[in-house]
Amino acid sequence: MTSSTEGRTSLVAGYLQHIADQCADDRSGAVADYIPELAAVDPDQYGLSLCAHDGYLYSVGDTTTEFTIQSMSKPLTYAMVLGRHGSDVVDAKIGVEPSGEAFNEISVDSRRRPRNPMINAGAITAASLLLPQHREVEPGVVDEAFAELVEFYSACAGRRLTIDDEVYLSEKSTGSRNRAIAYMLDSFGVLGTDPDAALDLYFRQCSLRVTTADLAVVGVTIACGGVNPRTGRRVFSRRTAQRLLSVMTTCGMYDGAGDWVTSVGIPAKSGVGGGILGSLPGQLGIGVFSPRLDDHGNSVRGVDTYRHLSADLGLHMF
Ligand code: DON
Repeated sequence: MTSSTEGRTSLVAGYLQHIADQCADDRSGAVADYIPELAAVDPDQYGLSLCAHDGYLYSVGDTTTEFTIQSMSKPLTYAMVLGRHGSDVVDAKIGVEPSGEAFNEISVDSRRRPRNPMINAGAITAASLLLPQHREVEPGVVDEAFAELVEFYSACAGRRLTIDDEVYLSEKSTGSRNRAIAYMLDSFGVLGTDPDAALDLYFRQCSLRVTTADLAVVGVTIACGGVNPRTGRRVFSRRTAQRLLSVMTTCGMYDGAGDWVTSVGIPAKSGVGGGILGSLPGQLGIGVFSPRLDDHGNSVRGVDTYRHLSADLGLHMF
């Protein structure tokens, strides 16, 4: 490391620690408990990472702690299906309008498409598009689809991601709400595959383990038009990146999206594990983690962190 790089690193680290300190006393919100295993985490954990477009990574706090990606997986599976099928096929199944409703509502439009890929209905439909489009899904097919998915997510993060089996089994054995959503979509003719196979793939993708550093690298890969600046590898097209940034801006924070765009102005996606993935076009990826959630299912300290970053560093897009 050169002395100017060291200077930059300690300056940024000092600033990030200042943000962490500002958020530390806020104990409002509650950890998600509808997936029983998620209720077992230490609620006071906090980590923050930034990855610049040149690939430099800056982190403070619990940045090596792994937690499950949950809904922050949704943009990545959407990217996979866009790359595999093209936008015409995907748009015929999943809309791009904000729902204004909670993430686990069966929000469908007049064509009975899930309103967007960031809510559970849209994400389960996206997962279904990674499976053979017929009802009889042979044993092992979900395993194969999941292996490809892990490959893709790992390329975005720049390291091999692994599944948290406890969280996966915990959600699989209690996920009646998502089961209801999938069967309702199936009755609408939206799913071309076995709904249980689509759910299984969706539960597995949500249970992949990440750190805040991984989230920052995924965020910067989206921000850099689909190229991971740490590995130099193109993972998806610039056009797909543009889509992801668009739906993250309008739908990524669910029924909190309007407030988010107005006050923070950074395309983002939250997860009930307490993570928030942010992606500032051309500039920066951001990963924050703190498990207590607000009423929208977004991390309380995570939202607060983004508000500070946006205001202090002038990161609002507009
Ligand atoms: O499907 C679910 O309910 C969870 N696996 C993911 C939901 C989620 O992360 C919502 N985001 N804040």
